[in-house]
Amino acid sequence: MRCRKCGEKAAINMRQHKLALCGTHFLEWIPEQTQRFIEKYKMFEEDSRILLAVSGGKDSLALWDVLHRLGYQTTGLYIDLGISDYSIQSQRMAEKFATENDLKLTLVDVAESEGATIPEASKLTERGKGKPCSVCGLTKRHIMNRVAREGGYDVLVTGHNLDDEAAVLFGNTINWAVGYLARQGPVLEEKADGLVRKAKPFCRFYERETAAYALLRGINYIYDECPYAEGATSIYYKELLNQMEEVRPGMKLSFYLSFLRAKKFGLFVQESTIAQSKLVNCSTCGQPTTAPDQCAYCRTWDKVRSRQAAA
Ligand code: AMP
Ligand code: FES
Ligand code: ZN
Ligand code: ZN
Repeated sequence: MRCRKCGEKAAINMRQHKLALCGTHFLEWIPEQTQRFIEKYKMFEEDSRILLAVSGGKDSLALWDVLHRLGYQTTGLYIDLGISDYSIQSQRMAEKFATENDLKLTLVDVAESEGATIPEASKLTERGKGKPCSVCGLTKRHIMNRVAREGGYDVLVTGHNLDDEAAVLFGNTINWAVGYLARQGPVLEEKADGLVRKAKPFCRFYERETAAYALLRGINYIYDECPYAEGATSIYYKELLNQMEEVRPGMKLSFYLSFLRAKKFGLFVQESTIAQSKLVNCSTCGQPTTAPDQCAYCRTWDKVRSRQAAA
């Protein structure tokens, strides 16, 4: 297989685009495409202040590298979830990248700021039937929004790739979770008071493309998944979608893009309006919520702290 641009030996063949590229041209193609997506979905501007959530994994570190190469002003945010060795290793990767590239990284230690690690908090609440993923997701989303708001950032950016987005879309479609479907997309506008704008510039790249980019750029990232991810439904959906992709190259991308097109033409508009009209500000933290008084984050962490005090 030869590179379409220069005829050299190809480093990657992207069957969904009928495009093979050598290492050099692939490393040019990824930032070009990222810039195209940023503009197409109006994610942010040249001078926007960007807070980039970095997990230490390939997607968020590759994205940080790309945005830096494109000349955007970014600050990283790493949330230490206190998940034993996994958190220690991933923090090390995020810090290493920031130091090597002279970039600013904000650290939030959940145990320090909230009073317990994610596994400890999970044990003290009934959320998620013994798995910490539910309290973890809730806490990460809350902290990301809080840091972005308090720091006056224009946008919060995450490293979600197409495989992540297609798996979420698959799950939401199977359950016809119209409220979630209404909110899914490359950009979540800052509509409600206190909710920052969110963007996912890598949402159209396959996971193997972001992994190839990180590898070819020599970025060190944590290879391991979170230990609690094993057996997760999202992983099962990713495997199913990959099986379909094998038979029909481009299927994952067209599933996601057709959904975005349908939304653009008005699908779920009603649900989106209803969901927005239900938002109120949490009586404790002020972040928008559909709960009548306190948001799920405040309720969960209040419970953790009161159970800690009672123990
Ligand atoms: P995940 O939910 O683990 O698939 O991660 C999706 C995105 O969320 C990553 O690409 C990061 O942008 C962000 N993220 C995940 N974990 C963390 C973390 N511990 N600290 C900061 N950002 C994170
Ligand atoms: Fe949060 Fe695994 S439980 S990353
Ligand atoms: Zn080439
Ligand atoms: Zn709250």
